[in-house]
Amino acid sequence: MSFEHPLKNIIPRIGSKLKSAKEKEPVNKSYSKNDGRRWIELVVRESEETVSLYYNNLGLTDEMLSQKNSVLDIGAGMADFAAHCKANKINDNVISLDLQQEDQPGIVDAQKMYFGEKIYEHVKNRTITGKMEEIPCEDESFDLIVGHTAMPGVYYHSDEIEEMKKGISNSFNEIMRVLRHGGEARMFPLTDDQEGESEIRKKFQHQAIKQKLSELQKTGICQVLTEEVIDPETKKITREKRIVIRKI
Ligand SMILES: C[S@@+](CC[C@H](N)C(=O)[O-])C[C@H]1O[C@@H](n2cnc3c(N)ncnc32)[C@H](O)[C@@H]1O
Repeated sequence: MSFEHPLKNIIPRIGSKLKSAKEKEPVNKSYSKNDGRRWIELVVRESEETVSLYYNNLGLTDEMLSQKNSVLDIGAGMADFAAHCKANKINDNVISLDLQQEDQPGIVDAQKMYFGEKIYEHVKNRTITGKMEEIPCEDESFDLIVGHTAMPGVYYHSDEIEEMKKGISNSFNEIMRVLRHGGEARMFPLTDDQEGESEIRKKFQHQAIKQKLSELQKTGICQVLTEEVIDPETKKITREKRIVIRKI
């Protein structure tokens, strides 16, 4: 007897990372019951890989994270980063913001099993459903904002360039609003090789981000730096650069 394992539904979201982890398993087939454990292992591996990419691509250290009172992760996905910070006693106050929350029983069970009930509940209580273009938080709430492969919003269904530009502009304005003076935002843009994305977005996102950052810089409210990132697998410089914004 075969069944559709509930975890199957998250696989398209993590497909590219699994590929890079040399995972060749096709993602759309039905799995036999005995394979359920295998999917949980994949979720665990995915979570560990995600966290290590956060550190690498955003230039984070445990020391830096432990010194922050409050951290916001925008486009947090499965909130692996917040769970990691809590589980390793690095920072208890990481808020995860995402458009959607995973609530499918199979996925929730796998996360509970991996993080443990206590950490799962802790993270869940600090997870907000919302969009980065309208962050549902008070002004100057965070010392550090991270955004890993979540900028700009992935799911612009429209190919309207102006709409995308507006989304990018609003997101950066919101980041500046909720960031404390002296605080820092660290972003690593979405890579161009993700599946299911608008061609228009791929083509114009870098240009739109650059333009917005230059506008922000001119206002004098922040300092913007871009930093090269080395791909941990290939040891080559990635096409996308890390963006660091320091609010003055
Ligand atoms: C490629 S995933 C990255 C997830 C996680 N940061 C990671 O590195 O594994 C992008 C995430 O951004 C979220 N997202 C996309 N557009 C968003 C928006 N406008 N506001 C908030 N979250 C958004 C998606 O729901 C998705 O979970």
